[in-house]
Amino acid sequence: MTEHSNSSLYGGVTGRRVTVRDLAKAKQNGERWAMLTAYDAPTAAVFDEAGIPVLLVGDSAGNCHLGYETTVPVTMDQMVMMAGSVVRGTERALIVADLPFGAYQESAQQALHNSVRLLKEAGVQAVKLEGGERSAAAIQLLVEAGIPVMAHIGLTPQSVNAFGGYPVQGRGDEGAQRLLNDAKAVQDAGAFSVVLEAVPAKLAGEVTSALHIPTVGIGAGPDCDAQVLVWTDMAGMTAGRVPKFVKRYADLRGVLGAAATAFADEVRGGAFPGEEQSFR
Ligand code: KIV
Repeated sequence: MTEHSNSSLYGGVTGRRVTVRDLAKAKQNGERWAMLTAYDAPTAAVFDEAGIPVLLVGDSAGNCHLGYETTVPVTMDQMVMMAGSVVRGTERALIVADLPFGAYQESAQQALHNSVRLLKEAGVQAVKLEGGERSAAAIQLLVEAGIPVMAHIGLTPQSVNAFGGYPVQGRGDEGAQRLLNDAKAVQDAGAFSVVLEAVPAKLAGEVTSALHIPTVGIGAGPDCDAQVLVWTDMAGMTAGRVPKFVKRYADLRGVLGAAATAFADEVRGGAFPGEEQSFR
């Protein structure tokens, strides 16, 4: 395993998976942590070995992995398949899986039924769902059933059709108050943490101070307890423009494209396979 700081999440948790209790302690100790999305076993294994303590099998798979334009078409069966793959590829990270659009909006019972699938069939340790006050009843039922829940407020991508795009949330007094109410509602319902997406940095800092559960920011500035990025954005696999809040840490698209071109050139030129790759 790669060397990490001596912090409890990056260095101290060995021989077992990170738990929601570890994340609660990290908040008390003022320790920040990173979360990345993952959709398959080999990629998840790389992040696990790199010491990322929490992996999210996000429904961002819709646009980042499965070729859809948005997260809306993603199904429970697809989530179960991807989440199972991520669980099998990892040993140490806490695995959180998204409930996709249509898997929890009907009723709290529907949320419970589909969360149980993710825990039993895929083996994840926690689920995530979008919505603040509107999702509080579902969160409460899941928590009562023993299922850790990560909430997701601010810009909730499953509502892209209602938002008419991906606008920043929480602007103005009314927007800020709504975000704070949503944050308190999910905390009161028992969520172990909450994603704040695309909200002004100052407001995210205020919400983070007001909550005893960790906030996970994406486009929410530096004052959240944790930060999440979609892995394909972070590693430069996404084609074209990425949102303003993304930082690219690698150019994987360039590296992979160059490898594919080199392979094709060698096949065309007769250099591959060579002696080394051939049986006698
Ligand atoms: O689906 C996802 O990847 C997410 C993150 C952007 C938080 O919800």
